[in-house]
Amino acid sequence: MFSSLFHVPLFLVLSTQLSDVVSEPSFTPILPPSYPLAVRNTYLSAWLPGNQTENIAYAVPEFWNGQPLTWSVMARVDGESYSLFGVPEPESGVKPGLLQSADYTSTHTTFVVTAGLARFVLDFLSPISPQDYVRQSLPLSYLTVSASGINGAAPSIQVYSDIDNSWAGQFGENVATSWGYALSRESTHIFTLTPGGTATFSEVDDMAQWGTAVYCTRPGSSSQVSGRVGGMGTVRSGFVSNGNLTGDWGCGLGSVIAFSHDLGSCGSPKNVSFAVGYVRDAAVNYLGNPRASYWQSAVPDISAACVHAFLDFPRADLEARNLDAAIASRASSTAGDKYRDIVTLSVRQVFGAFDVTIPKDTLNTSDVMVFVKEISSNGNVNTVDVIMPISPILYVMAPEYIRLLLEPVIQYLASGAWPHNYTIHDIGTHFPNATGHNDGTAEEMPAEECGNILLLASMYQLASGNTDWWKQHSSLFQLYADYLVTNGLYPKAQLSSDDGAGPIANETGLAIKAAIALNAFGIMTNQSSYSDTGRRFADTLYKDAVGTDAGRTHFTLTLNDAESWGTQYNLFLDVLLNLTTFPTEAYTMETSFYPTDRATNGVALDSRVDWAKTDWMHWAAGTAMAPGVENEDVRDMFVNDVHAFLTNGQNTAPFSDNFFIMTNGSDVAGVYNTYRARPVAGGHFALMALNGPARIEIGAGESEKSSTKSEGWVERLLARFARRYS
Ligand SMILES: *[C@@H]1O[C@H](CO)[C@@H](O)[C@H](O)[C@H]1NC(C)=O
Ligand SMILES: *[C@@H]1O[C@H](CO)[C@@H](O)[C@H](O)[C@H]1NC(C)=O
Ligand SMILES: *[C@@H]1O[C@H](CO)[C@@H](O)[C@H](O)[C@H]1NC(C)=O
Ligand SMILES: *[C@@H]1O[C@H](CO)[C@@H](O)[C@H](O)[C@H]1NC(C)=O
Ligand SMILES: *[C@@H]1O[C@H](CO)[C@@H](O)[C@H](O)[C@H]1NC(C)=O
Ligand SMILES: *[C@@H]1O[C@H](CO)[C@@H](O)[C@H](O)[C@H]1NC(C)=O
Ligand SMILES: *[C@@H]1O[C@H](CO)[C@@H](O)[C@H](O)[C@H]1NC(C)=O
Ligand SMILES: *[C@@H]1O[C@H](CO)[C@@H](O)[C@H](O)[C@H]1NC(C)=O
Ligand SMILES: *[C@@H]1O[C@H](CO)[C@@H](O)[C@H](O)[C@H]1NC(C)=O
Ligand SMILES: *[C@@H]1O[C@H](CO)[C@@H](O)[C@H](O)[C@H]1NC(C)=O
Repeated sequence: MFSSLFHVPLFLVLSTQLSDVVSEPSFTPILPPSYPLAVRNTYLSAWLPGNQTENIAYAVPEFWNGQPLTWSVMARVDGESYSLFGVPEPESGVKPGLLQSADYTSTHTTFVVTAGLARFVLDFLSPISPQDYVRQSLPLSYLTVSASGINGAAPSIQVYSDIDNSWAGQFGENVATSWGYALSRESTHIFTLTPGGTATFSEVDDMAQWGTAVYCTRPGSSSQVSGRVGGMGTVRSGFVSNGNLTGDWGCGLGSVIAFSHDLGSCGSPKNVSFAVGYVRDAAVNYLGNPRASYWQSAVPDISAACVHAFLDFPRADLEARNLDAAIASRASSTAGDKYRDIVTLSVRQVFGAFDVTIPKDTLNTSDVMVFVKEISSNGNVNTVDVIMPISPILYVMAPEYIRLLLEPVIQYLASGAWPHNYTIHDIGTHFPNATGHNDGTAEEMPAEECGNILLLASMYQLASGNTDWWKQHSSLFQLYADYLVTNGLYPKAQLSSDDGAGPIANETGLAIKAAIALNAFGIMTNQSSYSDTGRRFADTLYKDAVGTDAGRTHFTLTLNDAESWGTQYNLFLDVLLNLTTFPTEAYTMETSFYPTDRATNGVALDSRVDWAKTDWMHWAAGTAMAPGVENEDVRDMFVNDVHAFLTNGQNTAPFSDNFFIMTNGSDVAGVYNTYRARPVAGGHFALMALNGPARIEIGAGESEKSSTKSEGWVERLLARFARRYS
């Protein structure tokens, strides 16, 4: 490892004068498998694998799917050049900065790096703003570099950063790329890269091909900005030699777009901010109609979006910090600090999977739909059994998003184009083409999706207080409830949400879901006959032991197969919605069973497989906390097993929701099996959801007071900005 080579000597040299330079970096709260860096939507999703963090100067950030991204930060400190981040092949004479600490919250990832007599804080912010659709949909993420002297030194500092065409999904081929540079309003410097010859809405290896990569910055209070486009080596060595970017501009294979800031002498901290983005003029294709990102209703083009991003930065950052504090403290008080580490690592992954959209032609802001891609499995659009596992975080933080994710599904179903009497699995085979399945062919999960859509509608009604939405689509919901009445108790051979485990007949989990969903539907619509049917199903499954072994020690995987078992995550919805479809003894039985089938690293999804799902583990933990059960040991068992998976040092994928719970042949206990960066991490909020709906609503609730002080001037800036574009 180089780390010991370069950490120790510097420590020895400087330790007498620099008390805050440490030999081993600290990782707070944990060193995760991968750090979110710029995670705003499925095509703007940059991560840093945890095992590269210690040697951060040489690190190579990655797209969620593993493609390497060029994103460097260098600095000159009194004329000496250092790489701080993302320079795997430094120019000669460039020394590596040293990582002191790495930290993540729900919205920020922060690295502290020392270089000579300077200390740099690299703060990566991906804002989350459930209630402000402009802020949430803006396809830009911030990097702030804060520079200061160590122990009273006031070195002269220049900061450099670049990106390249990898952000536009281009690797190693000389694609005709148009680039742009603009010095826009509010002194915002904007570089763009737009590869040519690609089809709208096309992807290569999950990266979009039809958009524009953007890098922009603004002078801080005392920094001079220069920019350059050119070959990576030329541009970087120019900075190393001069501390600024001068010389010819030209774009070709291997070119970067780069900025440098001259901060002058930095006794106390001076900040520079960058915004990196990937902008799609048309975001998704909904049934042949292109939809735009919501931000396009507020600002007309990329330049305006960059200007807006910087004007909005103080408020976005303030909201994000309020959110960080609220989520961390509530998670800790709900189920301890390990639980906090899990949920705070999950938040960007969830909100960074959404596209908040409006129609591209009318930009009608009353017609909002949210789109989500089933990433790292098959790319389907708005998969209903992906929205279901996401939903606990939405129940807690953003109930309206449950409806916004369902709108494109339910409006398609309401059009009559889907020819079946059960709920569709998804509305398009591959994101971003939400073109429906008019031929009636989609992944077959009839019981799963009928149950899900009824339960999501109930959750939405309960959490949002909107009791009318389902009524607009009452005949559809009725159809799906009727499907379950007929087909829910003994489901024919079919897949459930865990399609990786294969289809199976008479799956107990689907029958449990049908029972709970029918009861929920009956309550939502005041039709007691449906609740009666749901309760009758539940009695058959539990009281008559059709869904359990004869001694009622556990629910089975398939009806009447006493030896089989499964993680019966659907019970959680009965608890969350307080439906009491099943008696408390059923939850107690199942909760007591889990520790008995736990393998070395956790409880498997079911008796067929050697892997577990982190979302369903939290749903099972939530069931263990049902009133009258309240089994904290079992809750903690699940939380500890997921936490151990995150911290065992065996993984580098963005928070995977599927890992091996035992070693079996080439499957290694504690290693991720499949799935990267999926939004189903929202399911980790199951325990917090039990505290009640909409408990974290920053912007409307508790943050209001603390934010009013800074609101004034930002509001004025934004108002001024709005006038310029009106
Ligand atoms: C979406 O559809 C367009 C044609 O309309 C096609 O060119 C593109 O490749 C499709 N995208 C994906 C990801 O399949
Ligand atoms: C860039 O740096 C060179 C060498 O230090 C200097 O001569 C030149 O004036 C600088 N240019 C600007 C625009 O600061
Ligand atoms: C500078 O950036 C750091 C790191 O993001 C932040 O903590 C600090 O508040 C910023 N200072 C100013 C004046 O913006
Ligand atoms: C905007 O969308 C809403 C909701 O879909 C719709 O009711 C309204 O008619 C639309 N307005 C226009 C001008 O299209
Ligand atoms: C769907 O249900 C309707 C009304 O119950 C019925 O008329 C129709 O035949 C059903 N369609 C299919 C494909 O089962
Ligand atoms: C499902 O269970 C029912 C009731 O035990 C049984 O009649 C039916 O044959 C089973 N279906 C399958 C496909 O095994
Ligand atoms: C529910 O239905 C019953 C009769 O089935 C009726 O008496 C009651 O008023 C209804 N409640 C609501 C809220 O609609
Ligand atoms: C759950 O419902 C029962 C009635 O079925 C009620 O007594 C209880 O207060 C409810 N609990 C919550 C948390 O809403
Ligand atoms: C263990 O591995 C074998 C061989 O790959 C496989 O058949 C078996 O299903 C695995 N066991 C579990 C519990 O997954
Ligand atoms: C990090 O882990 C990956 C495997 O996930 C491995 O290929 C790579 O060599 C490791 N990098 C370092 C610096 O240890």
